[in-house]
This record gives sequence, structure tokens and C-alpha cells, in this order.
Amino acid sequence: MALERSSFAFLLRLAHPAMANLMPASLFGNGLGLILLFVAISTMTFDLYLQSSRPNCSCNDQGNAALLGTNKVGRLTLQDILPRDQDAGREFRGYGCAAHVYVELGAYRVGNRSFAVVGLASKPLHTFGSPSFGCSWIAINAQNSSVEGRASVYYTDYHYGRVYKVVSVICAFEVDIGTDGNGGQLILDAFVGDTFGTKERIVALTEKPGDYKWSNFAPPYRYEFLYCGSPLYGDINPKRIREWLAYHGLVFGPRSHFVFYDAGGINDAVREVLNPWIKLGRVTVENVRQQSQYDGYYYNQFLIVADCLHRTRFLANWTFFFDIDEYIYFEPPKTIHDVFARYSDSAQVLFTQYRISDKFCAIENNSASSKWAMEKLAYHIVTSQNVDVKMALNPRKVTSAGVHWAIAYDGPDDRCDASVGRYYHYHNTVTTKGEVCREFLDHKQRWNISDGEDTLIYDGSMIPFAEKAKQLEQELFTATDPAALLET
Ligand SMILES: *[C@@H]1O[C@H](CO)[C@@H](O)[C@H](O)[C@H]1NC(C)=O
Ligand SMILES: *[C@@H]1O[C@H](CO)[C@@H](O)[C@H](O)[C@H]1NC(C)=O
Ligand SMILES: *[C@@H]1O[C@H](CO)[C@@H](O)[C@H](O)[C@H]1NC(C)=O
Ligand SMILES: *[C@@H]1O[C@H](CO)[C@@H](O)[C@H](O)[C@H]1NC(C)=O
Ligand SMILES: *[C@@H]1O[C@H](CO)[C@@H](O)[C@H](O)[C@H]1NC(C)=O
Repeated sequence: MALERSSFAFLLRLAHPAMANLMPASLFGNGLGLILLFVAISTMTFDLYLQSSRPNCSCNDQGNAALLGTNKVGRLTLQDILPRDQDAGREFRGYGCAAHVYVELGAYRVGNRSFAVVGLASKPLHTFGSPSFGCSWIAINAQNSSVEGRASVYYTDYHYGRVYKVVSVICAFEVDIGTDGNGGQLILDAFVGDTFGTKERIVALTEKPGDYKWSNFAPPYRYEFLYCGSPLYGDINPKRIREWLAYHGLVFGPRSHFVFYDAGGINDAVREVLNPWIKLGRVTVENVRQQSQYDGYYYNQFLIVADCLHRTRFLANWTFFFDIDEYIYFEPPKTIHDVFARYSDSAQVLFTQYRISDKFCAIENNSASSKWAMEKLAYHIVTSQNVDVKMALNPRKVTSAGVHWAIAYDGPDDRCDASVGRYYHYHNTVTTKGEVCREFLDHKQRWNISDGEDTLIYDGSMIPFAEKAKQLEQELFTATDPAALLET
């Protein structure tokens, strides 16, 4: 930008006469002078704009320029810089939106007087601003009467969010809501927190007449054990899904169900593995591929956990949260039922990770190819680092949960003794094509081996379960009446 020193001083006197005298002339020949000038003009007039024009951040609008009706400026001229009159402020032209005020994924009734709304919101807004929420219920009746509730906000992704952050809202009312079964709507008002009281009015949930039935929320629940999976992504090897599902079908027993979230990982081959399980009613797939448009942490993993927790809240006694490279294990003769009988009052039960080497196999090379990954990857990596945990929740007692443990819950919190129940983590194996083993060891000698800093201990606990899981597959998918197997 080339402005001559003389015109610059002239401008400055106009803009702020006192400043021209205070600033040494040498400053005005460079860019700093220009910046100071802008600051002087801007700060004088910014407040006027705040009070006069409410920013419009609809993602389809034409930007504030249209709203304000001002001309576009390409190159600055004297007229642009000169204040046209003392009250006219500078214009800040906004175009489009980078992050929504709220992105709803799901809204669920969680009791006679409460609801959970699960979604994402702009991270900077929730980090630096002061947004808030309001809840109300509009009943379907002669007056369409409205009841105000109280909104509590739960942030469940710690600092991990990116453009978006996971924001769950619990709406609590002082009276029973919609329990007459006539239906109604849960309204979530998402306030931006600006001086205009800007808000988005969100119809979060609609209950049609007859939708509400107390029996849907009361025990006994349809399943004993339910699995909520993390979002599946990447080029998943269908063999690993087959093995995982057969094993967990066995361990969780016939009254169990598996919910997978598809963030792009359920390719055609994986879908083929899932289809028979879906037909049996043992698997549900939630297509959440649209999550890629909302930049959160790790395929929006925390959002998916929050959604599954509330969505399946009344479906099972216990809900497990772990990944498809992780295998829950109970030491025989104990079963999952024996273990959970001890925890009937608990809100959460944590299980300790046993990390399995993705390199060493306890098998001969020539017999490896016909074996499942869990039959040959059998070296537990013992490290001095913190060992992860994963959780099983009584979802009725949990308001909010992260990936590893519940955040807000009401009830005892237990950690299962690892000698009784634990989980094996076969890291880095799910997308491996072909042979997973990279080195073959003779497991009969039960050697402890050292791989750099880590010690690896032979642990063949999982191996006998593979045969049993294969038998279960046989029974389930060759039976003339597979549904009958669910009753046993
Ligand atoms: C919820 O409301 C239904 C219908 O009024 C009632 O039968 C049930 O006992 C209530 N449950 C609780 C926990 O208050
Ligand atoms: C109540 O709401 C329904 C559905 O929105 C509407 O059709 C009806 O006119 C409303 N009734 C009153 C009294 O406002
Ligand atoms: C599930 O809950 C019911 C009561 O609702 C109880 O009878 C049953 O033993 C529980 N099962 C497990 C596995 O916790
Ligand atoms: C296993 O055997 C195959 C076939 O003989 C060979 O190509 C491969 O390199 C062997 N793998 C290892 C890790 O020894
Ligand atoms: C292997 O390591 C485990 C745990 O440190 C130890 O208990 C066991 O005695 C070791 N086995 C051998 C053969 O050194």
C-alpha cells in the first residue's frame, strides 16, 4: 500500500488529532503507522457496530456485507479510510460459518423427567465464549402447554476436541414429562452467549402420541450384555471382525447385542461378515459416515460413546465400551455371569488391559495360516508404563462417560481383578492383510523374551476359546432355526 507521508499525516490528524502530535514522524513512513491508524479508528467505532448490527451466522447467508448494505472494498482509497461521519463504524464482513452452534446426533428420553441430547458444538465458542442452553417441553394438548426444564452441560472429550467439541446436555424437569403418552416435543435452545441473546431453537426430540410407554424403561431389559463399539474406519480386514464377533458372541452369551458405528470402516467384505449376525438380531450398525464433516477427535470417538450410552440405556443390564482389536476375557472356570453377579449395585466396572505383541506368534510358520489371530498372537507385553482400562457400565447409573471410564455416575465404582477378568489388546492387527505374525517362536518353552525395553510373557489364555467360537458360528449359522438358539 503506497501512501505518501504527507497525506498520511493529514489523515492521522483527521482521525485522531492528538495522536499525530504524539507520534514521532519517522514512524509514519512505515507500515506501523498505518496499523496504529487503523487501531485508532477501529477502537473508536467498534462499539457502535456491536450495538447496531446483530451478526448473522447462518451458513447459507451472503455474509454481513449484504446485511449491512455496504459496498465492497478492493483497494483502499482515501475515502475508505476517512471517517465519513463520526458515528459510522468500521464494518466487519463475515461470510459463512466455520463451526455450528450445535450439531445434534441424538436425543433420548432417560427417565420420566429427564432427557439427554448428544452432539457437538464449536470448540472455540465453548472454550472462550459463554454459551448456554435452555430446555423446554411442549406437550401435545389443547393448549400446547410448555414446561421449562433445567439444562446441564457435560463436556466429555477433555481437551481432545478439534474444531468441534462433544457437548451433551441433560434436560431435567421438576415434574413428569409426557408420561400421559399424548406426545410432545423437547426443545433445546442453544444460546451463543453474545450481547444479542442469539439462540438456535432446536426441536431435539419428538414423541408422537403413544410413543411413551413406561415398560420401555423398566427392567427386565432385553439383553444382559451390550457392546457399544468405537467408530470403525480404515481398511478393516473382515477376518478380524469375524473372529472378534464369534468370540464375543460366545463370551457375552445368547442374550447379548453388538452395536457397531460405521465411520467408513464397514466395507463390503466386513458387511458380509456382519449380515448373518444382523439377521439373527445380534448386531446393529449405525451409519455415522457423516461425522467426517465435523472435525472432532479421532472419528468423533467420544461423541459415539456418548450417543451409544444414552441410546442403549434401557436395552441391557450392562454396556461395554471397547474396540474391535480388544477382547474381554474371563478366567475359567469363572464366566461373565459369575463376575458380574458381584457387581449388581455398581455403576461401572473397569477392566485392565493386557497388551499383546503384534509381532511374535507362538506357532510354527507352516501351521499359522489356518489359525485365527487370537490363536497365535500370544505374547503379553509387560511395561512399566500406565496400563489402560476399559469399562462396563450400568448405563442407568451413568450420566456421562469418556472412552475409558465414566465421568458422571451414581453408584459404586469397581475394578475387576485382572486375574479374574481383563482384556487383551491386539493393537495394529485389524487392518493387517495376510499373515499377522512377523516372527514365529516356540511357545512350548514358555520363554519370556525381551523386545527392546519391553518384556514379553507367553500368555495362551485366549487360545482354547477360538475352537469354541468356531463351534458357536457353526451352530448359529447352520441351525435350521437359528432364532431358537437365542432362547437357550
Ligand atoms: C414413570 O411414570 C410412569 C407413568 O406415570 C409410572 O408408572 C412409573 O412408575 C414412573 N417411574 C418412575 C421411576 O417414577
Ligand atoms: C398446537 O400445536 C399443533 C402442532 O404444532 C398445532 O397444529 C395447533 O394449532 C396448536 N394448537 C394451539 C392451540 O396452539
Ligand atoms: C439383569 O437384571 C435383571 C433384573 O432386571 C436380573 O434379574 C438379572 O440377574 C440381571 N442379569 C445380569 C447378567 O446382570
Ligand atoms: C513363513 O513362511 C513363508 C513361506 O515359506 C515365508 O515366505 C515367510 O517369510 C515366513 N515368515 C517368517 C516370518 O519366517
Ligand atoms: C516370565 O516373567 C514372569 C513375570 O515377570 C515371571 O513370573 C516368570 O517366572 C518368568 N518366566 C520365566 C521362564 O522366566
